[in-house]
Amino acid sequence: PFAKRPAGVKGKKIAIGNFKGGVSKTTTAMTLAQGLSLFGRRVLLVDLDPQASLSALNGILADSEVSDEQTVLPLIYGDVDD
Ligand SMILES: Nc1ncnc2c1ncn2[C@@H]1O[C@H](COP(=O)(O)OP(=O)(O)OP(=O)(O)O)[C@@H](O)[C@H]1O
Ligand SMILES: [Mg+2]
Repeated sequence: PFAKRPAGVKGKKIAIGNFKGGVSKTTTAMTLAQGLSLFGRRVLLVDLDPQASLSALNGILADSEVSDEQTVLPLIYGDVDD
């Protein structure tokens, strides 16, 4: 049902945030991505939460499968600038 994004037009960024815990932020991000994918959109999910539950929902065990260097942590610490 969605028209394809014309060449040269940038993709949209959607951030899910709330100060309160346990109010469905991660679930909203996941189901929004799933829904957009089912409508034919290409979706990149970026998990910025150290809790990494969005990664876990996608089958990635952050504790054992992801090193700090593979996350945004070095950028946040200022160790890298890109
Ligand atoms: N629409 C819903 N109906 C019922 N349960 C829900 C719904 N949305 C989320 N939940 C449940 O509520 C709990 C918290 O959801 P979720 O982890 O998405 O919240 P969160 O805001 O990301 O939490 P946190 O602050 O810990 O990151 C989970 O167990 C999730 O399965
Ligand atoms: Mg969460």
